[in-house]
Amino acid sequence: MKDGWGRDINYIRISVTDRCNLRCIYCMPLEGVEKKEHDDILRHEDILKIVKCCAKLGINKIRLTGGEPLIVKDIDRLIYEISKVEGIYDIGITTNGILLKDMAGDLKKCGLKRVNISLDTLDEEKFKKITRRGQLKNVLDAIEECLRIGLSPVKINTVLIRGINDNEIEDIMNLTRKYPLDVRFIELMPIGEGEKYYKDGFISSEEIIKNHKSLIPLGRKKGETAENYKLSDAIGKIGFISPLSCKFCDSCNRIRLTSTGTIKPCLHSEKEYSIREYLNSEDMLLMAIKNSILNKPKEHYLEENEKSFSKKMMFQIGG
Ligand code: GTP
Ligand code: 5AD
Ligand code: SF4
Repeated sequence: MKDGWGRDINYIRISVTDRCNLRCIYCMPLEGVEKKEHDDILRHEDILKIVKCCAKLGINKIRLTGGEPLIVKDIDRLIYEISKVEGIYDIGITTNGILLKDMAGDLKKCGLKRVNISLDTLDEEKFKKITRRGQLKNVLDAIEECLRIGLSPVKINTVLIRGINDNEIEDIMNLTRKYPLDVRFIELMPIGEGEKYYKDGFISSEEIIKNHKSLIPLGRKKGETAENYKLSDAIGKIGFISPLSCKFCDSCNRIRLTSTGTIKPCLHSEKEYSIREYLNSEDMLLMAIKNSILNKPKEHYLEENEKSFSKKMMFQIGG
């Protein structure tokens, strides 16, 4: 359906948990997150009800996010059930990749179409420093496995922070010469832990594009977060995601569902619409989701007003 500004909303990002098996320095506090009461988190059957309503409203694309979605019990089952919902034909997942290698084949059989994997460095020691827990090899193996079994496209998300991984920009770009990957550099957002690194660490997409004259522009597809480029002899693409500069608000096609059952119509909107109280009535649930879509803000105003940043952390919003 169309939102109040005439944009076609066909995509919902569902955060299935705010917990994570990593503690990336710009995202998750070292102590992790307070465990939510079991009853506060949507059950798989609740999510399924919501997906069915969304499909009736014209949503055909689902992305499961977290926290880390792959630590959620029976996530393969949930993907399978979602893939059976009439009208849903694209299911993706955004993951840190740590558990993905062994799960990828099963998830594909269950209906998963696409994966976006976080990878901020190609250096084992630095990976440990950034994630405070993980091993780089697990992620690299997962990427190769996804390509091998044909989960396509495989997108890589790299959050750039000056003084931490900006010396690896070329190495990470060069992955697109070796693999048919979409590597996307994401601007750091001053949300949650990201705030600690923002003042000294923020690097704009503009700066990188300016410094890499060999990048060939490919443009941006409607509803896509990244502005795409490629290297002349590469098999993959290089994208730049600039969530602060609001370059894709006018073609935004998405809403978000949090793990506690609220719809967040925009990544940065404070306003959320609780829908869990309507789970027992399909009509009411449809109305509540419709209402949240109609109230999706036109754009965010982060550049003008830093206070308008979401008070929520990235692991609660799902990116
Ligand atoms: P596709 O479904 O493949 O298009 O994925 P995606 O790029 O939307 O998803 P992913 O989960 O990989 O998100 C990558 C980054 O895009 C996030 O960390 C956010 O920085 C940014 N992003 C995603 N959705 C939005 C949005 O609605 N608004 C803004 N400002 N940024 C977003
Ligand atoms: N700024 C930008 N991106 C972030 N992510 C997590 N925290 C931030 C932040 N403060 C990224 C993750 C993941 C994506 C979903 O969001 O690295 O790739
Ligand atoms: Fe976990 Fe992703 Fe946050 Fe890292 S960035 S702590 S992998 S949710």
